[in-house]
Amino acid sequence: MRQAGRSLPEYRAIRGSGSILEVIADPKLSAEITLQPVRRYGVDAAILYSDIVVPAHAVGFGVDVKPGIGPFVESPFERAADLQRLRPLEPDIDTPYVLETVRRVVEEADVPVIGFAGAPFTVASYLIEGAPSRTYGRTKALMLGDTGLWHDLMDRLADMAISSLCSQIAAGASAVQLFDSWAGTLSPPTYEKYVLPHSRRVFESLAETRVPRIHFGVGTSEILGLMTAAGADVIGIDWRIPLDEARRRLGPETVLQGNLDPAICLGPADQIEAVVAAEVADVLARNDGHPGHVFNLGHGVLPEIDPVVLERVVEQVHAHPLDS
Ligand code: CP3
Repeated sequence: MRQAGRSLPEYRAIRGSGSILEVIADPKLSAEITLQPVRRYGVDAAILYSDIVVPAHAVGFGVDVKPGIGPFVESPFERAADLQRLRPLEPDIDTPYVLETVRRVVEEADVPVIGFAGAPFTVASYLIEGAPSRTYGRTKALMLGDTGLWHDLMDRLADMAISSLCSQIAAGASAVQLFDSWAGTLSPPTYEKYVLPHSRRVFESLAETRVPRIHFGVGTSEILGLMTAAGADVIGIDWRIPLDEARRRLGPETVLQGNLDPAICLGPADQIEAVVAAEVADVLARNDGHPGHVFNLGHGVLPEIDPVVLERVVEQVHAHPLDS
């Protein structure tokens, strides 16, 4: 899933050196980048090449993505007046290039296309912190200190995610993923009170599209039950919780996405292939033939990963009988 193309030489060759937001605004280039990992690895779906801050950027909030760092905001969100910087997203006008990329990929790919958006909490954390954070101190201070403003901000970001996802579905996306990458920084009661209602509204708004909805987070073992309550069809887990343990907590019918640790894929192919093969086998064994499993790397591809290792991972997963 995430950033599958990042470690590919063919990606680096066409990526250029500017902000990723410039690349995303070029549908021809973005469609090609979306297709590169599908061609190289033979994976079963394409994930749109875009970023979770694209809608906020497109409505003029003032957010960029710095190479090697991530989202960066010159004037972070602080007070009620900043809500005006988040007018409603009109996808046809504000992000036509994203929709054009989806249409191009749908046209060219033999596999389904997964659209996505940032979840209200994770996008809020970037807008408030201004840069990637370890503590989310400013985000939590606003959440707990000015609860009214927090919910107003989350309402706007939920609306933005809904408009963006609906437009991607209309353009041909076959599934959508809501990235709440950093929700794992919250305690269960805090998540339940300040985040769950907003993510739930996003999923509820998409229900009638009948498109499968994936809910992703990292380090979310203790809030998995609450994340499930938000109503997605598929729950993403990282490597910190074994797949069988996640199903034990969430119920035997739960459809899971996960959860190879990307870090074990680091290193030259000839040295680590056996280690990775054993870990892949372990993930598959813990799924135990359950039909509801989307195999992936728990938090996406790291740029240093040797593409040959990932080719082997895909081959091994495809060779695994589905109903063993
Ligand atoms: O496979 C793909 O490339 C899918 C497209 C995709 C990107 N970002 C492209 C990207 C997706 C699905 C995302 C989502 C995204 N963006 C998330 C949620 C998933 C996750 O990682 O938890 C988050 C938190 C972001 C914010 C963001 N954008 C970060 C933290 C970074 C990393 C900065 C870095 O260089 O390490 C980015 C930049 C970014 N988005 C890159 C890519 C391919 C990095 C390379 C580049 O700038 O070209």
